[in-house]
Amino acid sequence: MLSEQAVNEINREIDKYPTEQKQAALMATLSIAQREVGHLSKEVMDWVAGFLNVPPIRVREVATFYSMYDLEPVGKRKICVCTNISCMLRGSDEVIQHIEKRLGIKVGETTPDGGITLTEVECLGACADAPMMQIGDDYLENLTPDRIDAILDQLETTNA
Ligand code: FES
Repeated sequence: MLSEQAVNEINREIDKYPTEQKQAALMATLSIAQREVGHLSKEVMDWVAGFLNVPPIRVREVATFYSMYDLEPVGKRKICVCTNISCMLRGSDEVIQHIEKRLGIKVGETTPDGGITLTEVECLGACADAPMMQIGDDYLENLTPDRIDAILDQLETTNA
């Protein structure tokens, strides 16, 4: 299911915990699996459950709770716009509208070329610099229309 490299990485995560607590590596294992195969299908989640020896429902509970896990295929890059209270009060609705118009997609959709998926997420802990969004490992804060355009220009260039 996963490459030897990914399995080794998961084993290093498991080694951080006592032998009888290897299920503690569940979130890290899901992240590694998702990075490797793109999204967490039922098949992937079942593999994770078997590998960590936890009930499949436990894996599903975690995978469906956190917005960082994708249960369906997504684009090469995922734009996660926070729409929680601080971001909402500082213009996240306008951020979403601006990105939707620019990309020609709605929240939850992917651009026709499969390059970018737009999602809405709960608070990402960067409220002081709202409104904000996350792309990959980057937090992009204090968003304005011009700043969003500059970010999307760069994203489209690197996706090309
Ligand atoms: S409300 Fe958006 S980062 Fe906290």
